[in-house]
Order: sequence, then structure tokens, then C-alpha cells
Amino acid sequence: MAKDPGRVLIFDTTLRDGEQSPGASLNLEEKLAIAQQLARLGVDVIEAGFPFASQGDFAAVQRISDQVGGSEGPIICGLARASKKDIKSCAEAVAPAPKKRIHTFIATSDIHLEHKLHKTRKEVLEIVPEMVAFARSLVEDVEFSCEDAGRSDPEFLYEVIEAAIAAGASTINIPDTVGYSTPSEFGDLISSIDKYVPNIDEAVLSVHGHNDLGLAVANFLEAVKKGARQLECTINGIGERAGNAALEELVMAMHVRRRYFNPYFGRDLDSPTPLTAIRTEEITKTSRLVSNLTGMMVQPNKAIVGVNAFAHESGIHQDGVLKNRLTYEIVDARTVGLTDNRISLGKLSGRSAVRARLEELGYDLSREDLNEAFARFKDLADRKRDITDRDLEAIVSEQVQQPEARFSLRLVQVSCGSSLRATATVTLADQDGKESTTAAVGTGPVDAVCRALNALAGEPNELIEFSVKSVTEGIDAMGEVTIRLRREGHLYSGHSADTDVVVAAAQAFVNALNRLVSCKENHSIHPQRDVVTKEKRPTI
Ligand code: KIV
Ligand code: ZN
Repeated sequence: MAKDPGRVLIFDTTLRDGEQSPGASLNLEEKLAIAQQLARLGVDVIEAGFPFASQGDFAAVQRISDQVGGSEGPIICGLARASKKDIKSCAEAVAPAPKKRIHTFIATSDIHLEHKLHKTRKEVLEIVPEMVAFARSLVEDVEFSCEDAGRSDPEFLYEVIEAAIAAGASTINIPDTVGYSTPSEFGDLISSIDKYVPNIDEAVLSVHGHNDLGLAVANFLEAVKKGARQLECTINGIGERAGNAALEELVMAMHVRRRYFNPYFGRDLDSPTPLTAIRTEEITKTSRLVSNLTGMMVQPNKAIVGVNAFAHESGIHQDGVLKNRLTYEIVDARTVGLTDNRISLGKLSGRSAVRARLEELGYDLSREDLNEAFARFKDLADRKRDITDRDLEAIVSEQVQQPEARFSLRLVQVSCGSSLRATATVTLADQDGKESTTAAVGTGPVDAVCRALNALAGEPNELIEFSVKSVTEGIDAMGEVTIRLRREGHLYSGHSADTDVVVAAAQAFVNALNRLVSCKENHSIHPQRDVVTKEKRPTI
């Protein structure tokens, strides 16, 4: 039997695999804000990034290691390919963390060996113990993953895993890298590893999976039944292609169906002890933060965190829910932190009331950040009667996007209407505060604003997504705008909220431009697509 911590460990990879989603790149402040929220959520491990990818990625992992967690908090983990340079860089980046882990990996399927690594099975079997032992010489806690395990020959997999454990890996991760497995196949693979790897009792069995066939969560739950005790997942299920297994769905499945899962943990059917250490009331807030900062919108019907997940539109359902919630509801919305949100903040609320509410929401702002948030709150309160938690979250999450800004929006003014040609005048300031102003016409006000901003910024791009949704209900609601720009095959997103959607669009466009410029200057390598031979880290 693999090592059993007695519950399921939640390994969050939003900042590593989640950030590999096209257009989801985050700056250092944004990563830090998400890591702090993940710690509040109670994850066991935060995979903070792939330090060898670039100096920016290294700095983010190092800062998170230094500032998030502490001795009672989550383990901070970095990813490293099975190469000494990657592992060394990872060890340096996670060094400040009281609890640190190196996660190293190599592919084990024949298709990856032949077409990606150009290595034989024998070569892989030599590399694995050497690299795991090297990682162990630098940190105590080493995780090893067999990339594309779902399509690997199980016999070869057993040998690789045995070698990794013998060399010191204490967590063995089994990824369904391309989301190909079905639940019973994946469960059988976990059972067979548990059965045929002689030293498996020295390691925790972990799973990682992508959602290409929409089966990632189902695969993981089957794996849990067969002995997997660490789940690698992301908030809102973001990640490469169709994404990763969604943390909130896994956690809530095990929360709501605890009686079903308890026997697999050797517990009494009715044992009330939670199966994970997640504080479920933090789920909604974490989901919104990740969505706001990555610009990856959550589909309305998404389980647990979609806006419709707890909405009862149909009259029959509403009637049933009013008589007894259990008729149509299996999760009380409050369990995931979804509350009515209506708080009594308004025009006359003072700084301390705003600070107190932000603290309750989990935002511990510095003096300057609080001053800025309060100024924006006052500005909003002039235009909107009731300010909700969601409005406050929108204000604060936007502030996090600003620090590394190359361009700042100073003014946006439009004239448009049924008989007017939409015209926008915008003023942008550069990093030194130098302002430039221009005007442009467009097919509508947003088009005119984007054209004017492009003319000033001089950073060629193609606008591929523009979406607006309201933060709360009511005619005075703030509109949240997400913009996605494409350049040379890469996507860059920007997000903003304002009671004026044209202003929100202009700010979201500027946020996306800032991201584009910063990514251009800080080119990263991809942990899975770029093979180890290209070891030189790109410099700024
Ligand atoms: O999908 C995958 O195989 C991965 C590994 C690097 C764990 O992300
Ligand atoms: Zn992955």
C-alpha cells in the first residue's frame, strides 16, 4: 500500500499548469495574491511555478517561497525537468520556504520517448534515479512524475517508479497528461502501481490529469478509491488545452459525498472528519480572484463556481427549494462562501469600514494600497448606491494588475450614438509619467478607444476577445470587461471593472497591453514542450 496520510492532500497547480493556459500569464504581484489566497483556502501544496523558465518565473517562485505559507502553511513547490540545471534553479527558488518541495519529471510513454525526448527506455531509467537523487541532495521533499503515464506501458512505469522511490522520491505522481484515460482505466492503473511497485509503501501516490475528454475529475475520484492520496488540480479547472481537474469540484464531491468515500479511507460511514483540509467557504472568493487576474472567465453553468451553480430559475424548483432546500439543492451555497453579499457600505462609509470589510474578505492591504482602494471606493460610491463584496473584490483585484505597468490610462472620452461616428480621445502615460494624447474613430466606442490606444502604444496586436458582464445586479452595476489580444501566436488578457463599460474596456485593453509588453521582455520556456537540450534560460 502506498503511504496514506489519512486524508487527501490537495496540491494546487494553478500558478504552474494553470498559468500554462493560453493568455493566462500572471505578473509577480498577481501570483503572490493568488498564492496568499491559496494558503487561506488551505491547500497542502502550492506549485508556484517552473523556476528555470525565465528570470520572472524564478523571482515569482522565490517571492512566494519567502512570503507565503510559513511553517504552518502549505509546502511551496517548484517544477523542474529531469535536468541538473532545472533542479538547481528550482532548489534556489524554493529555498526561502520553511516547507519546500522539488517536483521533477520526465516522460515515460513510448510516443514521448521517441518523438519528444529521442531517448530509449534504458536511458530514461538511468536519468530518473540520478536526477531524483540530485534533487534529494538539495531538499528533503522530492516529488517525481512520469509524464504521460496514462499512455505508458505499465511494466515500464513500475520500473521507473521503483527507481525514483529508491533514489528518494517521497511522492509519486501519475499524470494523465493528454486527458486520454477513462475513470475505470485510471483507477486500475493506480491499483496496479500500488500492487506491483515493491517499494510503493515509501511514497504517497498522487494523480494529475487534463480534461480533454471532460473526465479529469471522475478519473481522480476513481483514483482516490484505489489509494491515490494527493490530487493535483487547479482553481476553476484552468490549464493547458481543456484544463486540469478542478479543485472546487474534487473538494466538494468529497465533501458532499463523504459517506460514499469514507470507507475507502478505512473510516466509519458516518465519520464527520473532512477528507481534505480545504476551507470550503474560501472557494468562491478564490475562484473569482483567479478568474479576475487570469482573465479566464468561468462558464455560467460550471459546477460549484459558475454563476448559475446555485441559481434556481425555474418556478417549480424555486417553490421546492423554498419549502425544503434539499428538494433540488445538494450543496448549501454558504458552504462555498457564496453569501447574499449585500453589505451596508455606501457614500458615507469611512476608511476604517472599508478596511474592516476588506480584511474580512481576506485582503490585507498595505497603507498605500488601502489608500488607493479607498479612493477608488469613494469614486465608485459617487456613482453606485450600494457597494457589495463583489464590487470591492473587483476594485482590489484590478489594483494587483497595476504594479509593473508600462502604460497607465489617464483619460478616456468618447462621443457616439446612432447618428454620430464613434470617436475616442485617450491619454496614456508611460513609465516616466510622460503623457500623450490622440483621437481615433471606430465602428463603435470600444473600437475607437482600442484604435486610439494602439496608436499611442505602438505595440502591434490583434483583438480576439472582448466580453462584458455585470458584477452585480441593477442598472448602476459595474461592468466587468475581459479583453484578449494576440501577437505572434501568444494570447494576452486584461480585465477591468467600472460602472462605465467603455472606461472598463479602455482599462482592460491597457492591462492586456501591459501584459503583452512584460511577456515580450520576459520570455519563458515551456516545461513540457521545450526539451532539456535547450538548457539555456532565456535572458531579459
Ligand atoms: O500534465 C503533465 O503531465 C504535467 C507534468 C509536468 C506533471 O503537467
Ligand atoms: Zn499537466
